Amino acid sequence: IGHQLFHYDQVESTQEIVHQMAKQGKPHGTVVIADEQVKGKGRMARKWDSPKGKGIWMSILLRPNLPPFKAPQLTLLAATVLAEMISERSALVPQIKWPNDLLIHHKKVSGILTEMQAEQDAIQYIVVGIGMNVNQNGEEIPEDIRHKASSLKNEAGEEWNIQETVQHILRLFERTYDQYESDGFEAIKANWEKHGYRIGEEVTISTMKRTWKATLVGIEPDGALCVRDRDGNHEKLYSAEIHWGE
Ligand code: BTN
Repeated sequence: IGHQLFHYDQVESTQEIVHQMAKQGKPHGTVVIADEQVKGKGRMARKWDSPKGKGIWMSILLRPNLPPFKAPQLTLLAATVLAEMISERSALVPQIKWPNDLLIHHKKVSGILTEMQAEQDAIQYIVVGIGMNVNQNGEEIPEDIRHKASSLKNEAGEEWNIQETVQHILRLFERTYDQYESDGFEAIKANWEKHGYRIGEEVTISTMKRTWKATLVGIEPDGALCVRDRDGNHEKLYSAEIHWGE
């Protein structure tokens, strides 16, 4: 992973570049990284603020030999890699809010956008986009999200070396991916649960269809989130938003 790495000063979105590269046949593990994105995108068609030199804006091309239903496992894998990296480089305690938000002191510092190109029963390729707020100062976080978003520097109190942090992520990603290929999802799942945010607590869940309160139970062997409603019924979720309070 990252043996072919393309670095740009400014792009619209590293995600789009990797999609193009995938279609041109670039190999598994190709990485695109940019100092700045002017059209960074988040999940649910939200925009992702990607100011110049302040964070890690990168996308990784994966060509896994997996059935499409297992693709969400790669998002969880990426989240554990980021959590591990932060634990190894600092005294911060990262937590993963299902499926893929990385929180520190209850504030989001990183998000993952996984996009899959699949045909019938086979994954053509996957693009894992990682956005990590690294060196923004508090006042550089957009005001409307300042109550719920932060950066590593803002939480750790000191500047991070972006290049070393990227190298660390790529190293861990490769190691974790190899382990996943040889041993499957079990170890990833255990690691995810170690960092899982609010597991065992009652939260509010919304899907396209409804909003309800349930307790977060954990991750299923396939990567789904398991929740328990107030009547004790268990349910598996593949896509939902979680919040707390009302
Ligand atoms: C989210 O939490 O909504 C996911 C954010 C993903 C942002 C990253 S930054 C690199 C890559 N390029 C993009 O345009 N988005 C992802």
